Amino acid sequence: MATTDEERDIIRQILDLTERNTTQQLDGVMANPVTNYTDPARFEREVAVLFRQFPLVIAHASDLASAGDFITHDETGVPMLVTRTGEGSVKAYLNVCRHRGARVEGEACGNSRRFTCPYHAWNYDLDGTLVGMPQPFGFESIDRSAHSLVELPAFERFGLIWVVPSRQDRDIDLAGWVAPLEEHLDGLDLGDHVIFRRWSLEKQMSWRFVVEAFQECYHFCSAHRDTACSNYLDNQSLFLHHGPHVRHAVPLPQAIELRDQPEEQWDFRGNFMTQNYVFPANFVQVMTDHVYVHTVLPTGPGTSIFQCMMLIPETPATEKAERYWQKNYDVIRTVFDEDFAIGEGIQQGLGTGANDHFVFGTYECGLHHGQRAIDDALAGRISL
Ligand code: FES
Ligand SMILES: [Fe+2]
Repeated sequence: MATTDEERDIIRQILDLTERNTTQQLDGVMANPVTNYTDPARFEREVAVLFRQFPLVIAHASDLASAGDFITHDETGVPMLVTRTGEGSVKAYLNVCRHRGARVEGEACGNSRRFTCPYHAWNYDLDGTLVGMPQPFGFESIDRSAHSLVELPAFERFGLIWVVPSRQDRDIDLAGWVAPLEEHLDGLDLGDHVIFRRWSLEKQMSWRFVVEAFQECYHFCSAHRDTACSNYLDNQSLFLHHGPHVRHAVPLPQAIELRDQPEEQWDFRGNFMTQNYVFPANFVQVMTDHVYVHTVLPTGPGTSIFQCMMLIPETPATEKAERYWQKNYDVIRTVFDEDFAIGEGIQQGLGTGANDHFVFGTYECGLHHGQRAIDDALAGRISL
């Protein structure tokens, strides 16, 4: 993958920072009130705004490879049915029957031309249209076209399936929303990748603490002392604020050798790990040769679900390749578990009153940007 101008600029800045023995910093520390994590009213607003009005990644394009493929998804708190239509587009619906509200599709995934409600067998096609019911003489006066499944905004972009989990009366411009990350994410060809592993974890911690684990690298050499620490320069990284999204580029140790190479030969991907935060809770974490896509979903004020896909360029053709990717998978599970153990510990201490605020250091830039973006969205200053 060719190194872009943005990436060349990242490399220049990282080389400059390492030469000056410093790292990127914001103007001051930030005191973040602990009530931002504990206030139940605030939590309800977070769900209603952040997790209902913005796009969340719920699947990979390969989950809906063919016409008629469908998945159901419930972890956002909204029962959804997502299909690939006959015309090849992706559509999402509330998985709720328009007769008397039963769950229309019960399977996690499959292929079907019709969705038949188990209660009284009203049935819907891939476009969500109500196409049949037993003994229709009892419903002759209803307008069938007004009883289609309720559609949710759904998009296929960067090989990922995105859904806004609430009915919208307006057009959503997903392309505009992700435009600042477009060049980078498009270049990854994630649509041609395959899912090597996929996992979903229920965590006893606020969704905020899961997200924050991916918004700074200050913790790498303490929390990941025996795992990720040695893979990266210590507390060295660059945050590109594509408000409200953030591209966080973390150099591998050998990145400093780029200073001895002509810029035209610079290879960004081979020398950096990138954590792309796509507001409000999606991450595309780009490793040198594979990618993790994760989404964090709140299930309560102090509980959340972490959903992750490990995407690799092609199905492993040999046992050696299989072992290689499995090793990567084992390591990332260990690293993430190190983060989650700490996050669950934070959650346990949250109500003690030990802190009335948390302190974000000057170089924990992603935490500053993240908190401000959440505040902006809750105040209506950011919308799609
Ligand atoms: S609730 Fe679905 S057919 Fe009656
Ligand atoms: Fe971590």
